[in-house]
Amino acid sequence: MEHQLAEIRATALSAIQSADSIDILEEIRIQYLGRKGSLTLILRSLGNIPAERRASIGKLSNQYKNEIESGLEDKKNELSKTIGSDLLRKQLIDVTLDSESATERENLGRLHPISQIQYEIEDIFTSMGFEILDGPEVETDYYNFEALNMPRHHPARDMQDTFWTEDGNLLRTHTSAIQIRGMEKVSPPFRIVGPGRVFRYESTDASHENTFYQVEGMMVDREITVAHLIFVMKQLLKEIFQRDVAVRLRPGYFPFVEPGFELDIHCLICDGAGCSVCKQSGWVELLPCGLVHPNVLRMGGINPEEWSGFAFGLGLNRLVMMKYGINDIRHFLSGDIRFLKQF
Ligand code: DAH
Repeated sequence: MEHQLAEIRATALSAIQSADSIDILEEIRIQYLGRKGSLTLILRSLGNIPAERRASIGKLSNQYKNEIESGLEDKKNELSKTIGSDLLRKQLIDVTLDSESATERENLGRLHPISQIQYEIEDIFTSMGFEILDGPEVETDYYNFEALNMPRHHPARDMQDTFWTEDGNLLRTHTSAIQIRGMEKVSPPFRIVGPGRVFRYESTDASHENTFYQVEGMMVDREITVAHLIFVMKQLLKEIFQRDVAVRLRPGYFPFVEPGFELDIHCLICDGAGCSVCKQSGWVELLPCGLVHPNVLRMGGINPEEWSGFAFGLGLNRLVMMKYGINDIRHFLSGDIRFLKQF
């Protein structure tokens, strides 16, 4: 019996020595110390051994069992270490490298300044209970002109020449088309904003582009007045510029509002004293707006005797230009990385 035990111990320890993976160690453990392992079987059969030898055989078995166990443990630690350093060598992870290193920061992507202001404006309006709607960039004549009180041959169409598709559709000239789509989707009372890209057939210069961005807004409820319009506009400007901004309304003509206005803000560059940005007037034209024309409400299936509303169209390019002092609208679509990296 002692002989058999010694042999088990020797083969187990030498197998452990030459094991080269943790899986093999586990196999060895099962072979000797598992439920049906050779050493386990001997330990279990101690009861059959004559009493006078039982104590010494038992003691020897336990001693070998401990030796094999600690052999397994040591080898396992040793293997883990070399496996770890092998992995490290293969994957070449330098955990001390600064992930915020200058070159990496340089190459990080970022949001276009127009997107940044669009999301900011969406948040401001959402917090005032406005819903955000979308509309297609290729529109029908109906949504872009007709339903906005600009029937065919209306002279106001001349101001918004655009690109036409061969089947009679067009690239929308303004986000106002979203007003009509909105009225088809939601019923009054409602507050909606619709941001989007718009197009004009236009010669480009420092302040004109053929592609630019607007946010349309519309609120319809009972007895909406110009006071509601002014309040919402002032609230918006206060959030964007982080200070109170004085506004004034001048009459402006748009077929889809009556009365229609141009909303000016007190020049933020010179604080109204007069500078080149405000052309010495102290005021900067910011956004057109007005009370929704009854014909437009009717086109949207809303009874103008019962409901009224205001609407506005905010030009995002102009807003970003004012916020950052950008002097040429063509920068936005230039794709010039030196421009974009500044935001
Ligand atoms: N859609 C007009 C444009 O692009 C701007 C505008 C004017 C929108 C008055 C409005 C509004 O909602 O009430 O020139």
